[in-house]
Amino acid sequence: MARPTRSSTSTPSAPSDVVSRSGRFSSGPAADVAAFSESISFDWRLWRQDIRGSIAHATMLQSAGILNAAELKAIREGLEQIGAEIESGRFTWKPELEDVHMNIEAELTRRVPAGAKLHTGRSRNDQVAVDVRLWLRDEIDALISEIRTLQGSLVRLGARNASVIIPGYTHLQRAQPVYLAHHLLAYVEMLERDLGRLADGRERTNVCPLGSGAIAGSTLPLDRERVARLLDFVDAKGKPRVTQNSMDGVSDRDFMIEFCAGAALLAVHLSRLSEDIILWVSSEFGFIRIADAYTTGSSLMPQKKNPDVAELTRGKSGRVIGNLMSLLTLLKGLPMTYNRDLQEDKERLFDTADTVRRCVRLTAAMLDNTTVRAEACAAAAADPLLLATDLADYLVRKGMPFRKAHHVVGAVVGFAEANQKPLDQITVAEFQAIDGTFADDVASVFDLKQAMARRTLTGSPGTREVKRQLDRWTRALAKG
Ligand code: ARG
Repeated sequence: MARPTRSSTSTPSAPSDVVSRSGRFSSGPAADVAAFSESISFDWRLWRQDIRGSIAHATMLQSAGILNAAELKAIREGLEQIGAEIESGRFTWKPELEDVHMNIEAELTRRVPAGAKLHTGRSRNDQVAVDVRLWLRDEIDALISEIRTLQGSLVRLGARNASVIIPGYTHLQRAQPVYLAHHLLAYVEMLERDLGRLADGRERTNVCPLGSGAIAGSTLPLDRERVARLLDFVDAKGKPRVTQNSMDGVSDRDFMIEFCAGAALLAVHLSRLSEDIILWVSSEFGFIRIADAYTTGSSLMPQKKNPDVAELTRGKSGRVIGNLMSLLTLLKGLPMTYNRDLQEDKERLFDTADTVRRCVRLTAAMLDNTTVRAEACAAAAADPLLLATDLADYLVRKGMPFRKAHHVVGAVVGFAEANQKPLDQITVAEFQAIDGTFADDVASVFDLKQAMARRTLTGSPGTREVKRQLDRWTRALAKG
């Protein structure tokens, strides 16, 4: 599709018959003003929604007796024809017509005289609000389905490596053993919350502002509910949902901010996952391998294989967070109602949607092309220090208060370090010299398999529990 480019300062000034300036003005805007204020270079993306909204509005105007059947037919066919031309790249966007709304309406009116009636009871203020809501509603649905795919990739990577144990980290220091699947499922949970937030924001996006006019509605007998129904702005029961205050209707951008906030948190989650991937793929960890197609090389160092998909995903979270800040800052000083400042909202919104969607998609593809180096994981997980807490729990089971057990095991770790002995090589006699509570069965603490089986709490990285969670997610995702 041919995309309009940002107009240069040589843009011709707008013809005086342009819809919004006719009558009042003796000349079009100066060329540099036109170039400064155009939005067609980015809002052309709303053409589908703009046409859909216009057809619904015209359909309602006909039932309200403002258009006759022939006029509606001409408008509908004209708009459909323009849509087909845009789709196939044959439509010429005119920067001097400022935005997507004017471009489509001016072209319609040029072809169809009844086009001049289309804007009855409507303003670009409620028109742009409806277009963006329609666009974002679809975008949220698409993003949610990409997130589901990513959850599937995480679950499958975990399930393919269900027996792999790695150290879990706090402060990036080895803490306690966990199944790799448990670590991956932590991200599945985060993504589930992201998904819930996006779906919740969709509820408030799914409200029709048409009929708000420029600020104060219209004196004409419009049927707002009819338009809302035609555009699927309905609740679960099919009841139309329309905005309840015309001033709020034209100036509300909360739904965009909610989306950008949800997307920013999603981006933060993706960034954290990326950071784990980057660590795991390093020689220092060596837990995973990423297929060549999802890595890049160095132009200088022949041996390099870099996790650029993960690094870029981590990096792109910055602009997604920035977009949220831009939108909040854009709104904070605006008096009611529509102000032209609001035109600045779309690039931030589009960039957020495009960026997070690509990050989610690429992360899923990268994980689908990742293998786990089970030997390296097993070697790291064999560190007996990971079971120091289990050793304290062992003493607790023998009746020792936890605070004391913590202190005793601290002494054991000190002894091991001083004698350069792994924790699991300390003899029963040496244990007992530190504290008499230790008994012959102390060695059983260091059996990793048993240690994992002992973790039976809901949400713990225990053998049965992780399997249960993997099964639960596999089933839930299969349902779609
Ligand atoms: N391009 C404008 C925007 O994105 C459309 C609304 C223009 N309204 C106006 N009163 N100039 O906000």
